[in-house]
Amino acid sequence: MCGIFAYTGAQGKDAGKVLLDGLLSLEYRGYDSAGIFTPESGSIKSPGAVAELRKKIPTGFGGKSGIAHLRWATHGEPNEKNAHPHQDCTGELWIVHNGIIENFKELKEKLAHAGHRFASDSDTEVLAHLVEEHLKKEKNFEKAALAALNDLRGTYGIALQYKGEPDKLIAARMGSPIVIGLGDGEHFIASDPSPILPHTKKVVFLEDGEVAVLTPHKHSIYKLNAEKVDRTPTEIDWSPEEAQKGGYEHFMLKEIMEGPEVVENTLRGRVIAEKGMVKLGGLEAVAKELASIERVIIVGCGTAYYAGLVGEYMLEEFAGIPVEVELASEFRYRAPVLNQKTALIAISQSGETLDTLEAIREGKRKGALTLGIVNAVGSTIARETDAGVYNHAGPEVSVASTKALVSQLTALALFTVFLGRQRAMSEETGKEITAELKKLPAKLKAILGRTADIEVLAKKYASSRDFLFIGRKYNYPVALEGAIKLKEISYVHAEGYSAGEMKHGPIAMIDEHFPTFALAPHDSVYEKVVSNIHELKARKGPVVALVTEGDTRVAELADDVIAVPKTLEMLSPILNVVPLQLFAYYFAKEKGLNVDRPRNLAKSVTVE
Ligand code: AGP
Ligand code: GLU
Repeated sequence: MCGIFAYTGAQGKDAGKVLLDGLLSLEYRGYDSAGIFTPESGSIKSPGAVAELRKKIPTGFGGKSGIAHLRWATHGEPNEKNAHPHQDCTGELWIVHNGIIENFKELKEKLAHAGHRFASDSDTEVLAHLVEEHLKKEKNFEKAALAALNDLRGTYGIALQYKGEPDKLIAARMGSPIVIGLGDGEHFIASDPSPILPHTKKVVFLEDGEVAVLTPHKHSIYKLNAEKVDRTPTEIDWSPEEAQKGGYEHFMLKEIMEGPEVVENTLRGRVIAEKGMVKLGGLEAVAKELASIERVIIVGCGTAYYAGLVGEYMLEEFAGIPVEVELASEFRYRAPVLNQKTALIAISQSGETLDTLEAIREGKRKGALTLGIVNAVGSTIARETDAGVYNHAGPEVSVASTKALVSQLTALALFTVFLGRQRAMSEETGKEITAELKKLPAKLKAILGRTADIEVLAKKYASSRDFLFIGRKYNYPVALEGAIKLKEISYVHAEGYSAGEMKHGPIAMIDEHFPTFALAPHDSVYEKVVSNIHELKARKGPVVALVTEGDTRVAELADDVIAVPKTLEMLSPILNVVPLQLFAYYFAKEKGLNVDRPRNLAKSVTVE
């Protein structure tokens, strides 16, 4: 999720300077607070970014080793108290962490029962106390760390330091990237190579379940079972900027490729498969109210609004609740009729979109229960709604929203099961949906393994200036999203339309120069979309059809076909949107445009 940088060296470098300079190259990963620790000078933490932290660093702060962090909060408000590094009771053990410790609550209860006192609400702090508890028994830092890591469930990338052995650092990776920098008489730990590169290009990427022990002149890697690992270092010739993008050319492609892990992180700890139910901690306080709501209104802007449109189909079909989806910028100027039996759900990646925020405020004024599906923890919308579900999608840097949408759709599916199982949804149906949700990361990986095919399509249609995207039912919002993705980063005219509406106007535009993306997965409206494809071909319109793997009928009709794995109709948008995101990406790249920073747009629209 966020940024880790740690250093130990015998080169006379000041660890404070090395760490603070290195954090700057990690700020792109998003941050809400920052912190640093060296055994010689102790810990300094601050809300905001590195510049705020620097202001608090006293003259003379430094040392020969240390750990530093940029936090992107998941558990515990983004404030100084919850910023990393976190310490144990003794102040001897210090930790920085990226990811989510899923079983932190049960560990925290056990440790509190054993007398540990906690200073923060972060899940991370629990790990410092866990190592402390094991250190009492093991009397050995490395063994204590390994034992503690074996108690954890969840995702982590960590750097750990013990004042008793100040030149030693311990790193560990499970689901959140960690790279080790191998310098001459110095070693580094980071979330990506960018802060390491100014010092050395020789690195080792830890794999999941691996632990590294570093001192200035030595490094060793183990598995969680203490088995030694021999890993040949690699020389990377990336620029720091390329390192920030994980070697991808743009953040947008990196974030699309993160889709599988984003679904895993959104689902993490939330599926009770054996009961066909879901656990949404952020809704526990309002679960009773949710059981009696009679209407849902979803508000959002842009891509978030389209996510809401998918949610409408899900909630009506599987939770049996009437749903309206409103553009936040329209909703707030209407005279909406709301009451205590209405739940108003805001979907927002940034949690700062002013139109969506004002819509929530309007809902609160009228007595509705307000909920958020938000990615940025502690953001204004997250704080002003009565309850909500965090996406845990990690920071989304590219202006075009991609992984956040995939997470929003996954969260809406979880919310549908949550509400549905409070109502008429059977255990059987709940199990079917939750089981299929768990299979989506693998199906997304299959789609992402075929990016080259999409790139070929983008080149084939590179000269087109107009596109139509059509879909029905669950895939109508996907058509809308495909159009916005293309137009916002490539500036060409693209319209998303309900396929059923095509004959009521848009088909007049169709000729051989006007391609259409037709979303035709094997679902309850497949035959209708096939008819639409016939209508398009009768007007010589080029058709790129998205179909379910194995479909041959549409292949005979369409000019080009994109096949995606079969899934439940209600979950198909999570898969079907990805080829459209990729098409938009490669199309804009082909035109040489600034994919991550398209003209006229901002990542978060905090103006009306
Ligand atoms: C999506 O690609 C756009 N960047 C934009 O439509 C975005 O979805 C919209 O501004 C809403 O942002 P939010 O999710 O942060 O509220
Ligand atoms: N889950 C931890 C927290 O909320 C780490 C967040 C991060 O990855 O920055 O503090």
